[in-house]
Amino acid sequence: MSLMTAAPAHIPVLVKEAIEALAVQPGGRYIDCTIGTGGHTAAILDKSSPGGQLLGIDADPEAIKVAQTRLEAYGDSALLVNANFADLEAICFKYDFFPVHGILLDLGLSSLQLNGNGRGFSFQHDAPLDMRFSPSQEITAADIVNTYSEAEVARLIYTYGEERQSRRIARHIVQQRPIKTTFQLAQTIQQATGGRHGKIHPATKTFQALRIAVNHELEHLETALKQAIDLLGFEGRLVVISYHSLEDRIVKQFMRRESSADKARLRLINKRVITPSEEEVQLNPRSRSAKLRAAERIINQREQYVMAREYTFSWEIDAGGWRRPGLLEKLRRAFVAP
Ligand SMILES: C[S@@+](CC[C@H](N)C(=O)[O-])C[C@H]1O[C@@H](n2cnc3c(N)ncnc32)[C@H](O)[C@@H]1O
Repeated sequence: MSLMTAAPAHIPVLVKEAIEALAVQPGGRYIDCTIGTGGHTAAILDKSSPGGQLLGIDADPEAIKVAQTRLEAYGDSALLVNANFADLEAICFKYDFFPVHGILLDLGLSSLQLNGNGRGFSFQHDAPLDMRFSPSQEITAADIVNTYSEAEVARLIYTYGEERQSRRIARHIVQQRPIKTTFQLAQTIQQATGGRHGKIHPATKTFQALRIAVNHELEHLETALKQAIDLLGFEGRLVVISYHSLEDRIVKQFMRRESSADKARLRLINKRVITPSEEEVQLNPRSRSAKLRAAERIINQREQYVMAREYTFSWEIDAGGWRRPGLLEKLRRAFVAP
């Protein structure tokens, strides 16, 4: 069954490559941490049929609504949860959904959010400066722009936008306060930078920075990656698609670290990052900055030792030798085919 033709508002990126890297198989169990409008989700469900199961997560309740409609025909095979992937482990424990064969993170924004009226993510649509993935979050982009000190605004734009003119932009922002809409902010940035110099709009980096700050995107990514490892069964795959260098650096360093130590828990699937073909970029310009990295869960000697001890000397561990609740259970399950 394929629902891939159901008029997607968002064209999914590197779908074939993601499915391949996840090694999706019939009857497998998968987590899509960023369902968006459900493009990758549908592809995973198609490929894991018959018998596949999918847990889908998105912080944005609107995305969940769109995906729910799109994925209706998959029935019980898909369980969609409106939550933040920083809580991945808790979500999987709650729904008893581990270990899994694969976990996908397709980071950033969907076109639904970018083009959606009133979300404030884009300087091409006039809207209140919001930028929250979820309305349950407290801080909006307007709060940051209008209440943070000039130094804080500059630091944030520099760190999360890699914007060299961060101080000048921050100074103009503070002078123009209160700034309530995307157009007002874009105009302020244009004044600060003297308009467009290169290919990209002068507001691009500042908007990226604010969005990352509002949604704690980098912190949540690091948290989710750490939790993902424990949820993967033996030979389970972790696949991450990122869209800017800050995200990609975190993924790359994480996968390197976890695959190089003698206590390695991951093996890299591709030494080189996977990027979209020229054809894909032409069809979907939004894909041009995409980078896919993939790794496979391995069980290292230390974990094997713990497992062996659990079976041989379980009374000793129960008596207090092991203090991380849930870990033994995860390890035990990692050895048992789901
Ligand atoms: C690039 S889109 C995913 C598109 C999707 N793969 C598709 O094919 O339609 C990224 C999605 O991740 C969600 N997202 C970003 N950060 C999140 C987080 N920390 N927790 C949960 N969802 C998140 C966004 O709300 C957005 O819907």
